[in-house]
Amino acid sequence: MSKTATKRSSRKPAATATPATPVTTATPAEAEPFVWTKKHLLGLDELTADEIVHILDTAESFREVSTRSIKKVPALRGKVVANLFFEDSTRTRMSFNLAASRLSADVIELVSTGSSVAKGETLRDTVRNIEAMGVDIVVVRHKQSGAAYMLAQCLSASVVNAGDGQHEHPTQALLDIFTIRQRLGSVAGKKVGIVGDIAHSRVARSNILGLRKLGAEVFVVGPPTLVPSAITAMGCEVCHSLDEVLPRLDVINMLRIQFERFSSNLFPSVREYAQLYGLNAERMRLAKPDILVMHPGPINRGMELTSDVADGPNSAILNQVTNGLAIRMAVLFLVNQANQV
Ligand code: MLT
Repeated sequence: MSKTATKRSSRKPAATATPATPVTTATPAEAEPFVWTKKHLLGLDELTADEIVHILDTAESFREVSTRSIKKVPALRGKVVANLFFEDSTRTRMSFNLAASRLSADVIELVSTGSSVAKGETLRDTVRNIEAMGVDIVVVRHKQSGAAYMLAQCLSASVVNAGDGQHEHPTQALLDIFTIRQRLGSVAGKKVGIVGDIAHSRVARSNILGLRKLGAEVFVVGPPTLVPSAITAMGCEVCHSLDEVLPRLDVINMLRIQFERFSSNLFPSVREYAQLYGLNAERMRLAKPDILVMHPGPINRGMELTSDVADGPNSAILNQVTNGLAIRMAVLFLVNQANQV
């Protein structure tokens, strides 16, 4: 785990970055720029509230880049980003790929099928060999919780966790929190429901950590088999009835059931799950009219959400995907900056 702390100093951010506004966050009390010193992004567990806000503010600057006719800045020119995906991904992989390209980095990719991993090479050996090609930032997704932490111990490159097992998915939570702030103006005091497979979800864990640090109230909702009661230690409230909690929520984040991580059946049927915990037009009548509906994707239409809700006026789902690009640009930019300190 990275031990470096974020500090304020008069050092300017890298001059190579050219987002619309300078990548600094000044507080009224001390008008000094915020200098990012974390070389890795492994989880929201190790970030302070100020650091999370700094990533969101940096992403805000980078969001503008995607509206330009030439959607590129030279912030990572001459740097190499390796996207190493040992587990399935569409959105996250493409988003990191595009984010690195928009920052002018050279990007190399590995998807585990067709790689030496299939020939018995260890994760450490595979990644150290890839790093030896001159890689500056390793983005890694792996089915083992802790994989990103392990790599951070043995590489000189920065490591960005793109999802490790059931542990954390920090950039997903950052883009979710960014979307809440963008759509509702703030995060503090908002009531956020996270519904579904909490037990196996790295998205839930990272969201709970980030949202609590920024002062949101978090309710985790689902059947007892998918919501471990110990999760209350993370500062959230457990609720087994969606209908009961729904009227209170400002935001509802519907999670996919992670069937691939089940070792046995944890509820009787998909139909029964959808009846109790799925969001449909009828259930939406219980919610506040302006509730923000989110989903990290991929959606199982008809299970977590019906199509009328997924594509309806309250849905922020595509917005989340758009914001993911700005968040990943910000993260790559910041960890690279810290690696040069
Ligand atoms: C993840 O990688 O955890 C996804 O973003 C969410 C999911 O797979 O359900």
